[in-house]
Amino acid sequence: MAARPQMGRTVKKPGSTAGKGPTGKTTTSKGGTRVMKTRITKKSGLKESSRRWLERHMNDPYVQRAKIDGYRSRAAYKLIEIDDRYKILKPGMRIIDLGAAPGGWCQVVARRVGSSDKNPHIVGIDYLEMDPIPGAILLQMDFLDDAAPAKLAEALGGEPDVVLSDMAAPTTGHRRTDHIRTMHLGEVAADFAISVLKPGGHFLAKTFQGGAEGTLLTLLKRNFTSVHHVKPPSSRGESVELFMLAKGFKGRQPAEDTDGDAGERGSDPRDDDGED
Ligand SMILES: C[S@@+](CC[C@H](N)C(=O)[O-])C[C@H]1O[C@@H](n2cnc3c(N)ncnc32)[C@H](O)[C@@H]1O
Repeated sequence: MAARPQMGRTVKKPGSTAGKGPTGKTTTSKGGTRVMKTRITKKSGLKESSRRWLERHMNDPYVQRAKIDGYRSRAAYKLIEIDDRYKILKPGMRIIDLGAAPGGWCQVVARRVGSSDKNPHIVGIDYLEMDPIPGAILLQMDFLDDAAPAKLAEALGGEPDVVLSDMAAPTTGHRRTDHIRTMHLGEVAADFAISVLKPGGHFLAKTFQGGAEGTLLTLLKRNFTSVHHVKPPSSRGESVELFMLAKGFKGRQPAEDTDGDAGERGSDPRDDDGED
């Protein structure tokens, strides 16, 4: 590979000398990429939690790979790994990406479905501003805004084959609150997917492990042929993040149909990838 692994940014305590910055040694990462291991010394002046976060980020092989491969986020590899295994993206498909910033998933989708600026078939939405992505139409707005569904449908110009949601609520530090807020986003995203998807379409959403997945799971099982819990290798093992993939949209199902055998296949968390 032409590009060389990069040493991370030097973090020094104000007024410190060069010798007190990060130290580096070459190691081989999980993915086989040779990376320069960066250490941030305790003398850096950072809070211990920030020092550990920055050191982990700088040494994360997926962060290094994203720079080399030209992806805007390490999150791109989560979608790549899920799609490599479950084959949800095909050339020519129309895709909606909820919570798209900074744009890693849109980049992956554009490459895999072959979307171009001449004939874009991806629409991404986020309340954060994003730099343009070739082949994607980007909307800067809150997905929870009442006007968002109509804007998305209008921008896409047809029914989506796949609705993706990597939306996560800003963390408050209160684990239960963060969980409930992100699960709510997942449920609203699922309702949206069910109202717009093409029959046979797929829905992928970020969720958190921790007990409140029941409502979402029931909804997905009723409306899709199969539901899978997926923890891709690039999703950090210590993170409670878990993706739900619902394949084969059946068309909107009546609410009473809750105890049939719909969605039995793959819906047991023990079917997970188990990579962590
Ligand atoms: C984990 S990031 C997405 C990363 C993205 N998949 C990528 O590959 O670059 C989650 C995103 O969800 C967005 N988000 C959270 N709530 C949202 C909402 N209500 N409407 C739009 N975007 C939202 C955040 O602004 C954030 O950019």
